[in-house]
Amino acid sequence: MVRARPRIGILTSGGDSPGMNAAVEALTYGTLAQGWAPCGVRDGFVGLRSGRVTPLSPLDVVGINSRPGTVLGTSRPQGLEQPAEMAGLVAAVRAADLNALAVLGGDGSIGYIAALLDRLGVPCVAVPCTIDNDVPETEYSLGLDSACQFALAVVDGMRQTGQSLPGRVFLLETLGGNTGHLALQIAYAAQADAVAIPEAEPDWAAIGSRLSLAVERTGQALLVVSEGLTWRADPAAALAPHLAHRIRKTALGHAQRGGIPSTQDRVIGRALAEAAIGAVVGGRTGCMLAWRAGKPAEVPLAAVAAGKREPDWQLYASINER
Ligand code: F6P
Repeated sequence: MVRARPRIGILTSGGDSPGMNAAVEALTYGTLAQGWAPCGVRDGFVGLRSGRVTPLSPLDVVGINSRPGTVLGTSRPQGLEQPAEMAGLVAAVRAADLNALAVLGGDGSIGYIAALLDRLGVPCVAVPCTIDNDVPETEYSLGLDSACQFALAVVDGMRQTGQSLPGRVFLLETLGGNTGHLALQIAYAAQADAVAIPEAEPDWAAIGSRLSLAVERTGQALLVVSEGLTWRADPAAALAPHLAHRIRKTALGHAQRGGIPSTQDRVIGRALAEAAIGAVVGGRTGCMLAWRAGKPAEVPLAAVAAGKREPDWQLYASINER
């Protein structure tokens, strides 16, 4: 009798991020090479729940590493961690005859849902994917680099117009949710004059004088703000009493999430996916493939669930105190 090949469900969840497709492509080729059958779950956990699981072939995924977002589709349902919802997901995994699940997503998808599913007997491996780069236990989540590249192209344009028409303060609002990892990277790379993130209370008077000094010295100034901060304060209004110059704001919005996947996101996406297959085939599930010291590392899902990723305070200081 020919033994059926074990089946792995590949599922993308939460906010899409550039690099997810590179991981899906590599997971497909890699599982086939190991004698497993890759199955695409459409639209994340919502699709899993309603049984939208179909086999993936190399023809389905060839070249998708160049495309932002996720070809599988994703979703962000509320209340999935409720016992009835989780029982529904476990039943859906059994009905789709999946032997394991590869979950590609952010903090909530990995630390909550994948961790719970694994505890309920669904062998899970996870790959961190979010432009916010806030997944605990990993130095890198897929999408950050591409989202930075998108932002830097915008900053380059600001700098050019700032040279032609001096005297302005540019305020760049990035995505990032309630965290400032993305804004910090952009601000540092762009040599911004100041950065404001949700994890710290900004000293608007100090930021105002830094920006004024920058305009005096260079004719322009750049402040990078993470969106999460703007949910509790209006940076332009807060700065107005401390600044005599005109402020011009650009909010990157969701376009920042849809930038072309960078080389780094494609390389790390492939490396994490291949390491995830190694973990599944070797029977080492219940883990996330973290990026540490330039290579993949297996980290228990429970550690991700319990962890928190702090902003890089050294980077914060080096931007705001230069
Ligand atoms: O979590 C990734 C992210 O892009 C955040 O940076 C942003 O705040 C959020 O998703 C936007 O969520 P939605 O796509 O649901 O509007």
